[in-house]
Amino acid sequence: MTTQFKWLFLQSNIVNLTPDMHQPAKLKELEKINPFRVMTVMHRAAALEVKGRKIVHMEVGEPDFNTATPIIEAAKNALDAGFTHYTAAAGIDELRNALAGHYLERYGVTVDKERILVTPGASGGLSLLANLLVGEGDGVLITDPAYPCVRNFIQLMNASPQLVPVDRSQNFQPTVQQLEGAADSSTCGVWLASPSNPTGSVLDREALADISSWCTDKSLHLLVDEIYHGLHYVDDLPSVLEIDDSAFVVNSFSKYFGMTGWRLGWIVVPDYAVDTASILAQNFYISPSSIAQHAALAGFMEATRLILEQRRQNFRERRDFLCASLREIGFVLAEEVQGAFYVYADISAFSENSEQFCHDMLENHGVAITPGTDFGDFKARQFVRFAYTTSMDDLALGVERLRRALHA
Ligand SMILES: Cc1ncc(COP(=O)(O)O)c(C=O)c1O
Repeated sequence: MTTQFKWLFLQSNIVNLTPDMHQPAKLKELEKINPFRVMTVMHRAAALEVKGRKIVHMEVGEPDFNTATPIIEAAKNALDAGFTHYTAAAGIDELRNALAGHYLERYGVTVDKERILVTPGASGGLSLLANLLVGEGDGVLITDPAYPCVRNFIQLMNASPQLVPVDRSQNFQPTVQQLEGAADSSTCGVWLASPSNPTGSVLDREALADISSWCTDKSLHLLVDEIYHGLHYVDDLPSVLEIDDSAFVVNSFSKYFGMTGWRLGWIVVPDYAVDTASILAQNFYISPSSIAQHAALAGFMEATRLILEQRRQNFRERRDFLCASLREIGFVLAEEVQGAFYVYADISAFSENSEQFCHDMLENHGVAITPGTDFGDFKARQFVRFAYTTSMDDLALGVERLRRALHA
C-alpha cells in the first residue's frame, strides 16, 4: 500500500468508527451558535441557478466588483519578491504606517502605528477583541438588529449579548437612555457598528460623543465596528477615534477596498491593550497573510483611490434607485439610507413573516434577499435586508419582479 492509500484506508476506518464515538460536550453547547440564514438563501439560489433559473442576488454582503487592478498587481509583485513568509503578528510596518497615515489624512487624528494591529479580516479582529475584552458572565450591550457574528462571539466567551432594540424612528442606533436601561451590573462594554449591517445607519458625532461619555462614566469599554467606512453617502462620518481615543475600533479591507477574499482587516486598541492584543494575535494566527498585506498597501495609492471612489459612486446610484423603487412598491425604509450597501425594509404591507416572504420571493420570483431573523429578534419577522451588491440591470430586474409579485 502506498502512503497515500494507507492514509485513505485509515481515514475510512475512522469514518466508520465515528457514529459510536463519544462526542465532546462542548459541541452540544455550541448548538446555541446560529448559522447565517443568508448562507441558506445563497445555497438555495445557487441550486436554482444550476436548474437554469435566473436569480437576482440581493442577499450577498460583499461588493460585486473584483479587487482593483493596482492591488492585484501589488500581490503579484509580492509573490515574485518572495513575501511568502510569516510577518510580525501585528502586521508589516509599512501597512501599519499606511493605516496611521489614513487616520491622519481622513479623520485628522494621530494614531500611533503601534496601536494598529492588522488582522485576518474584521472577523479576526472581532474574535480577538472578544477574547481581550469579554469575560465569562459579562454582559455586552449590542443593538438588535446587528451583524449576527457579534452576538455569537460574545456567547462564545460564555458572556451575554444584552440586546438594545433599535427602530427606524431612532435611525436604528441606540440612545444613551436605552443603553442605561439595558445595562446591569454584569455589563462590561458596548459594541456598535457605524454604518451598521443590516441597516446602513450611521452614528453621528453627537450620538458618538454621548455614548462615549456615558461609557467613560460607567467604566465600560466602547467598541465601534467601522468596516463600512468609505461606503457612506452622508457628508460627515466620524470615526469614534476622533471623539474617544480610548475606544476600540474594528475595520477591514473587505468592503470599501473590495478585498473580501483576501481576509485582511485591522483593529485599533488603546496603548494599555497593545501588548496583550499582540500576544493574542501571535497565538491565534501567528500573522495575517503576508501577500494580502503587501497587496493592501496599494489600496492607498492614488490610482486605487480613484477606482474605489468611482465604485462608491456606483453604490450611491444603486442605493438611490433601489430606495426609490422599494418605497414605490410599498416597502417602508429609513428616511435616509446612509451607508454600507444594504437597505433594511419593513415588509408589513405584504407579510408578517420575513422568512416565509424571503422563501416565496426566491422560490417563486427568483429574487434572493435575507430575512431580518438573521440579525436579531426585534421586529425581525417584519424586516428583510436588500443588498445592492449587484449590477443596475439586475437591480432593475429584481425590482420589476418584486413589483409583479406584490401587485399582481
Ligand atoms: C458589520 C460587519 N463586521 C464585520 C464583518 C466581517 O468582515 P470581514 O471579516 O470580511 O472583514 C462583516 C461582514 O459582512 C460585517 O458586516
